[in-house]
Amino acid sequence: MANPKSSITLLLMYLVMAGGGICLCSSSQVYVVYMGNKNSKSLEEVVLQNHQLLSTVHGGSMEKAEESHVYSYSNSFRGFAAKLSEDQASELAEMPGVVSVFPNTKRILHTTHSWDFMGLAYDEAKETPGFSTKNQENVIIGFIDTGIWPESSSFSDEGMPPVPPRWKGTCQEGESFSNTTCNKKIIGARYYLNGYEAEEKMASSSMLPVKYRSARDSMGHGSHTASTAAGRFVENMSYEGLAAGRAHGGARMARIAAYKACWDSGCYDADLLAAFDDAVRDGVSILSISLGPESPQGDYFNDAISIGSFHADSHGVLVVASAGNAGTRGSATNLAPWMLTVGASSTDRNFASDIILGSGTIFTGESLNTFQMNSSVRTISGSEANAGYFTPYQSSFCLDSSLNETKARGKILVCRYSGSSSESRMGKSLVVKRAGGVGMILIDETEQGIASPFAIPAVSVGRAVGEKILSYVNSTRGATSRISPTKTVLGSQPAPRAATFSSKGPNSLTPEILKPDIMAPGLNILAAWSPSVNDKDFNIISGTSMACPHITGLVALMKAANPSWSPAAIKSAVMTTATVLDKSGNILTADPGRRPANAFDFGSGFPDPSKVLNPGLIYDSRTSDYKAFLCSIGYDDESLRQITGDNSVCSRRISTPSQLNYPSITVPDLKGTYSVTRTVTNVGNPRSEYRAAVSPPTGVDVTVTPDHISFKRYGQKTKFTVTFTAASPSHDYVFGSLSWEAIGDSQVVTSPLVVRVKASETGLL
Ligand SMILES: *[C@@H]1O[C@H](CO)[C@@H](O)[C@H](O)[C@H]1NC(C)=O
Ligand SMILES: *[C@@H]1O[C@H](CO)[C@@H](O)[C@H](O)[C@H]1NC(C)=O
Ligand SMILES: *[C@@H]1O[C@H](CO)[C@@H](O)[C@H](O)[C@H]1NC(C)=O
Ligand SMILES: *[C@@H]1O[C@H](CO)[C@@H](O)[C@H](O)[C@H]1NC(C)=O
Ligand SMILES: *[C@@H]1O[C@H](CO)[C@@H](O)[C@H](O)[C@H]1NC(C)=O
Repeated sequence: MANPKSSITLLLMYLVMAGGGICLCSSSQVYVVYMGNKNSKSLEEVVLQNHQLLSTVHGGSMEKAEESHVYSYSNSFRGFAAKLSEDQASELAEMPGVVSVFPNTKRILHTTHSWDFMGLAYDEAKETPGFSTKNQENVIIGFIDTGIWPESSSFSDEGMPPVPPRWKGTCQEGESFSNTTCNKKIIGARYYLNGYEAEEKMASSSMLPVKYRSARDSMGHGSHTASTAAGRFVENMSYEGLAAGRAHGGARMARIAAYKACWDSGCYDADLLAAFDDAVRDGVSILSISLGPESPQGDYFNDAISIGSFHADSHGVLVVASAGNAGTRGSATNLAPWMLTVGASSTDRNFASDIILGSGTIFTGESLNTFQMNSSVRTISGSEANAGYFTPYQSSFCLDSSLNETKARGKILVCRYSGSSSESRMGKSLVVKRAGGVGMILIDETEQGIASPFAIPAVSVGRAVGEKILSYVNSTRGATSRISPTKTVLGSQPAPRAATFSSKGPNSLTPEILKPDIMAPGLNILAAWSPSVNDKDFNIISGTSMACPHITGLVALMKAANPSWSPAAIKSAVMTTATVLDKSGNILTADPGRRPANAFDFGSGFPDPSKVLNPGLIYDSRTSDYKAFLCSIGYDDESLRQITGDNSVCSRRISTPSQLNYPSITVPDLKGTYSVTRTVTNVGNPRSEYRAAVSPPTGVDVTVTPDHISFKRYGQKTKFTVTFTAASPSHDYVFGSLSWEAIGDSQVVTSPLVVRVKASETGLL
């Protein structure tokens, strides 16, 4: 689906380039020049080499080369960022040793609406049974995000042992941040501003001041994600009394290292790569990335997050990332198979406010409304309060200055919310307030179920309830209503449900790899916050950004328990033990409308922390497997060798990406019969036996050979083959599962099966 914003950007670029004559495009922007795996040279040598390479496109001038240089990357991969014209960029792309050259693209944080950050809170973060805090203090989680608020009680280092000696990170000084601001909880902090400033300077001659030129968080997002994954116990955490209780992150003794690469308007590739490059060298165990490209995502080696995470994985660092908040089919991002990609679900908690209509009917909506309304007031639709120079349709969305103050004064207004990127829930309540309104009922046409704060008593409802309220308001002379303060309600709705905004599969880049991989709570999550935003220490916000650190916290606990497990092994254990049932034992559903959910919503399902430490079998993959994967999608020996920095050749070519040893199996274009081979590694009882249990996708026959596998020792590997035969055509993807059930034991190792039968090939159409 075309994104309206990006087509506008493309149009502008076209106009600039078509301008001809004096080429405006020569007022170069920043490009990233990616050169594959690192070599053993020192930083000084690498910088010198980069300057030399750069000088060749600057007519041999070392001075100009140095001037255009923005970053050199040398720790976990090689490359640099530099200010270049388009011609210079293309020239560099042709040079030996260069894998790819791409513009310094801006990435977005995966919260739902950054303007609604003016709010609050946290989620259940319950005690995880079966995990001890033992060895957690040796797990270091890097967060590439908006920085951190080190004074938050979530980041107290009380009772924490000394920093692990292997740690090579630093506590970088900056604005309101000294080299002693870090503690034994936050053991590292760095910030990256060059790529951001170079771009924003070019976009506008007068640059907006940067809030906190340091790792200090001015936006709240980074503190929220870090405390969700690894916050300490905080007594009485709440948002104005909502969601009150003792709260903590997933791995509360794990260490935090903050890499601030995201600023007010977003996160630039050049800065992200610098953060990845440092984090891997510093010695993080896990990286948590709650941000991503806009959908559709570009190729793996033209995307900073894919590149950074490829090299992180090859250094044994698991990268957990959010899938995105576009919500539509095929919109998932962070698609590389070496990442663990997380979609968002609800929790069993919601924030409910009642709307009591004059007719006596009561509806319930979502809000974080702490205002008390003591009486019912006149209620009209936004279109009825229309100010002459706007159309009633525009006023129905309560757009800025579209409301007539005479008509709105003292009333509750019913406003529509379409979810466009220029709209903000908080913003609408301010519009109503400015027009003299005393309350707002927001009809959320996107049905996101997000509880957000407002400037006046207000509540959001879905479309169906909204139409009922509008019809009452339209048909009743003197219609009135009252909005009650929000109450925290537990267990009133099926949970978890896949969130409306959570980006979905199939994978738009490599349909053979299912994305997202897993789902975790991301709707209305309470966690630490930056008081510089709104004087709040905790806030409730939503997004796959909030889902990602729930998985990060879980994998930190797993890493503590199994320090030697590879990133892929940890990922496999999370995925194969996940459940596709909700807390009531029914098949997971998805919002809006609680339709039956499928693997494009939740990947392998919702994690089960009680099982992840004992998965029985794992689907492991190492760098060599990802090399074979890259060959299968068209990378040749030369580009492969550059990316990996060794003498790799595409000899182990797997026929298609479906053959990557992935914990889920996807066959996007099944013609006749197709077989997929997988290898499982025994990490359970040395002597164990498993039998295959298949739930085939509709219209597809599935056989597993052998259908019994047995092991005699820990670490033993066994291959099996899954054969798919198209029995009847499917217009779309169909879903099933394969489980290896331990005989006489409790482990069930489950993989989603996702198949699309190529209709023309069956001859039935
Ligand atoms: C911190 O910075 C001060 C002055 O900027 C310096 O004297 C001191 O050595 C630094 N401490 C560490 C641990 O780097
Ligand atoms: C939590 O807050 C409640 C109400 O404000 C208070 O009664 C209680 O003592 C607090 N508990 C702790 C441990 O601070
Ligand atoms: C409602 O009543 C409470 C308590 O009597 C009072 O504190 C509050 O200000 C009143 N709210 C409004 C909107 O008048
Ligand atoms: C607002 O409404 C009042 C009363 O209906 C009307 O007299 C006035 O012209 C309106 N103003 C605008 C700007 O529409
Ligand atoms: C209510 O009236 C407004 C205009 O006055 C109209 O746009 C809307 O469709 C009506 N809604 C219902 C549910 O009748």
